[in-house]
Amino acid sequence: MQSETIKNYFANLVQQAVLEMAPGAAAASVTVPEAAFGDYATNAAMLLAKQLKKNPKDLAVELAEKIKALDSKGAFSEVVAASGFVNAKISQQRLLANLYEILEHGDLYGCSMAGQGRTVVVEYFQNNVAKPPHVGHLRSAVIGDCLLRVLKSQGYKAVSDTHIGDWGVQFGILLFAYKEYLKAGGKKEQIEKDPINELNKLYVEMSSKIEADETLREKGKEEFVKLEKGDAENRQLWQWFVNESLEDFERYRKWLKLLPFDHNLGESFYEDKMPAVMQELRAKGLAVRGETGEEYVDLESYGLGRCIIVKSDGGTTYHTRDFACYIYRRKEFNFYKNLYVVDNRQSHHFRQLFKVLELAGYPAGADSRHVDLGFMSLPEGAISTRKGTTISLKNLLEEAQARALRIIEEKNPQLQSKDAVAAQVAVAAIKYFDLSHNRKTEIVFAWDKALSFEGNTGPYLQYTHARIYGILRKFQISNSKSQINSKIQNINFKAEELLVLRKLVQYPEAVSQVAEDYLPNALCNYLFELSQAFNSFYQEMPVLQEPDEQLKSFRLQLITATAQVIQNGLYLLGIEAPEEM
Ligand code: ARG
Repeated sequence: MQSETIKNYFANLVQQAVLEMAPGAAAASVTVPEAAFGDYATNAAMLLAKQLKKNPKDLAVELAEKIKALDSKGAFSEVVAASGFVNAKISQQRLLANLYEILEHGDLYGCSMAGQGRTVVVEYFQNNVAKPPHVGHLRSAVIGDCLLRVLKSQGYKAVSDTHIGDWGVQFGILLFAYKEYLKAGGKKEQIEKDPINELNKLYVEMSSKIEADETLREKGKEEFVKLEKGDAENRQLWQWFVNESLEDFERYRKWLKLLPFDHNLGESFYEDKMPAVMQELRAKGLAVRGETGEEYVDLESYGLGRCIIVKSDGGTTYHTRDFACYIYRRKEFNFYKNLYVVDNRQSHHFRQLFKVLELAGYPAGADSRHVDLGFMSLPEGAISTRKGTTISLKNLLEEAQARALRIIEEKNPQLQSKDAVAAQVAVAAIKYFDLSHNRKTEIVFAWDKALSFEGNTGPYLQYTHARIYGILRKFQISNSKSQINSKIQNINFKAEELLVLRKLVQYPEAVSQVAEDYLPNALCNYLFELSQAFNSFYQEMPVLQEPDEQLKSFRLQLITATAQVIQNGLYLLGIEAPEEM
């Protein structure tokens, strides 16, 4: 548990020094330069130069001296001016202290209380009732789960909600289809054998019948109206669909190793909360009556068109439910932030949503965020439920399992628990592929890349972790880290060792960054770089064969800490770290 990262500590020193030089100066940024320049850099002198109309190089020299004088902890061995920038190098003493902090704090290394217990609602994995989840649901699940874990680790009270799709005319169509199925002699027992797939089949069949005969849609709509009005039979059937689906989602949650969901407040939950919302929008003078009787909020002047809140037939809209949802969450959770992890086809929807809420007096523009995702497709082609080209999540996971097992059998035929490890590798490969790409980009899933044991992949990180455990097992210390607890004082570190030590310092910074910008790919990159640093160290330097006892002990500590950080990082990504593979 850190009170502050070294990067923050440096930023504070910079800020103090800058204020001494120019009272009232604006905050300067701190970046991580290329390793050769140091661990941190700041452009503060250049900003000051503009403000004070002085030479930036002279100011940089002055600033560097001030920072050094302020560094009471001795965290930096070098603070130097270089063409207007100030670069700082962490001292060996601080690097070593950090190494021992990792060994001491273990699983907690990288955690902080920065969130101060403030609540963040994270909405993700918005599955639809009575439909099998498909690959399109994966990104939101994987990224949402990662954000939940990261926020918790940073001292936020992170609350998850899946916001399942459990309401709408499609349930009228399904009710109608099911009743027709019974009329034609179908049996409930048949559906119960495999409820989600069977119900989905009924729905798909009815949808294609509707394409040929539109009057059938009206029958579906009628069933939905009955459902809305509380018809006992329809309610009971609908509840059955929902319950079966919740059980199904739970199976996928476990399969994907996602944290348990705190809430599954589906769209239906907001049904009875909508009239009040519409009243509120009307009372605030936001609702305008349209040409065909619909009601909308005019957002033209914001370039956002019209936001329909009541359709011309009096029906509510997707927006209305989301207004109700926001207002409910605000009241119920008193959140500090409210995140929607949803693909970018809904960007316009969320822009409208937040704008209308702002016009109604809610701070949605500041406290809510559409954590937008680019779409993931498969090399097999685009995904469409109607065309039947969806790849179910089940197929994807089963295929990953089979492929991972083949690889394990080839690489490590002696391994005891091959199936269990293959399951860990399979899920890692899929999740990491998603997480390691910037969430905003469109990606095409590639089996060979995802499952590769080399490069920036989940299996590579797992493999590096297992490799370290292999070394530690050989030393027979895997269960008693205390044996290497003697602390070292003065060692002149080799370049490869220094690189690992410096990378280890960056871990808490990488995690806290994800809690700020919700981009887990930065954490993936960090773990990849750490693994590379370890692997080049291990290639160059003996650990178990090192004759000098003190040096050997230090190197064992170094690799133990590396394994710990990889494990902590993988945990935040929702990926398990087997000790052997
Ligand atoms: N169920 C919606 C869909 O499939 C996604 C829900 C997004 N969340 C929200 N609060 N609108 O399109």
